[in-house]
Amino acid sequence: MASKNFDNAKKAKADEFYTQLSDIEKELKNYKAQFKNKVVFCNCDDPETSNFYYYFVSNFDELKLKKLITTHFELDKPSYKLEYYGGADVKGDKETVIKRAIKLGQKTKLKQNFQQGSQADLFEVEPIRSYSGDFRSPECIELLKLSDIVVTNPPFSLFREFVSQLIEYKKKYLIIGNVNAITYKEIFKLIKENKIWLGQSIHSGDREFQVPESYPLKAAGFRIGPNGEHYIRIKGVRWFTNLDYTERHEDLILYKNYDENEYPNFDNYDAINIDVTKDIPMDYAGNMGVPITFLDKYNPEQFEIIALGIVGSVEFSCNKEMEILKDGKPTGKTTMNAKGTLYIKSKDKTKAAFRNVKTGEYYDSIYARILIRNLKPVHNIQRKIFSYCINDSIPLIIFINKLSLELWPYIEFATIAINTFFLIINIIFYKVFN
Ligand SMILES: C[S@@+](CC[C@H](N)C(=O)[O-])C[C@H]1O[C@@H](n2cnc3c(N)ncnc32)[C@H](O)[C@@H]1O
Repeated sequence: MASKNFDNAKKAKADEFYTQLSDIEKELKNYKAQFKNKVVFCNCDDPETSNFYYYFVSNFDELKLKKLITTHFELDKPSYKLEYYGGADVKGDKETVIKRAIKLGQKTKLKQNFQQGSQADLFEVEPIRSYSGDFRSPECIELLKLSDIVVTNPPFSLFREFVSQLIEYKKKYLIIGNVNAITYKEIFKLIKENKIWLGQSIHSGDREFQVPESYPLKAAGFRIGPNGEHYIRIKGVRWFTNLDYTERHEDLILYKNYDENEYPNFDNYDAINIDVTKDIPMDYAGNMGVPITFLDKYNPEQFEIIALGIVGSVEFSCNKEMEILKDGKPTGKTTMNAKGTLYIKSKDKTKAAFRNVKTGEYYDSIYARILIRNLKPVHNIQRKIFSYCINDSIPLIIFINKLSLELWPYIEFATIAINTFFLIINIIFYKVFN
């Protein structure tokens, strides 16, 4: 097991993407109160390079932290942990602050003998003897147990393991990952159970990370900074967390009405397909398949997550034999149930992905949908009121009159009173102005 872990970690050493300080600041500002008196653990963070370490040392007093612990992984030399208890003069640029922390923590001495660490007043450095600082090593797990919140950008290749360890030890966390992690079975389960959600600050576009100078220059979005540092832009970056913030409890404003021609049903699951999250109809109470980026807008009080729209996560209702098409043309190969994805009848057979072997019907494969349900769909009556206001721009008096009529079946007595009252006002207005 240990050797398997170590092999994985070796692979992960290719994950050297250093998070920018500005991205850390934008996200962390949402959780300030939640850090008060907490032990923060950055467990994939070499203090010499990590902006997470720099951020927490520099903002230690502002956040009222109790302690900061940092460990990192070294492939071919022993690692060390650096702890900070607050109170030192740590203002200044990154280089100054890190140099000072390391000097105070006597890193140099410990790196030479790798014996049990001696203690400085405010910083403490100790070597980690096993697995070179692997976050799964016994020593790092002991540190994890002592900490309250884990904040880092872990190696993406070990993302599942990293998250499952956080869950196992019931920790709070704020970590960076790729949006595709949502489709991992283990991660999706946690999302559905409301144990992990996306952070506040990143919902689209790409983000820039610093990379070691050995990284190939030819990658798209590559840039060299003013001091020769190498940067690369990465798409699909998201924060994953179980720290709460206000915006995730705000309803997504919906403005469209359900129309069966616009929202086709999947053929193999009882749900309608929605291509863009903002197009979710406000008045549809049934199941809906939405893109995974829906989670950027997800409010658990507004929507219920049912499942991931792929085989293994949901039971598909029919199992048709289909010919696989390439650019709308036959390939001679067949599949059952569109390779395990949701599918809808194709409107344009030149773009279709599958053809039913028996009936000749064409289908589009709809990949990576999250199946959801609106917990507070707008009812017919509310929809009508909404459309009176928005579309008809009718005089207020007539609108109120219509509204009272609409409410008739629900609050009969009140309706009669309101209706009569406004009818009289209507008549008076009519008499006065005509
Ligand atoms: C994506 S980088 C992020 C580094 C840093 N957290 C930051 O954001 O600037 C992931 C880091 O995890 C380290 N790493 C790889 N495998 C690890 C392991 N098994 N345990 C702890 N850290 C590991 C890598 O060396 C790398 O520095």
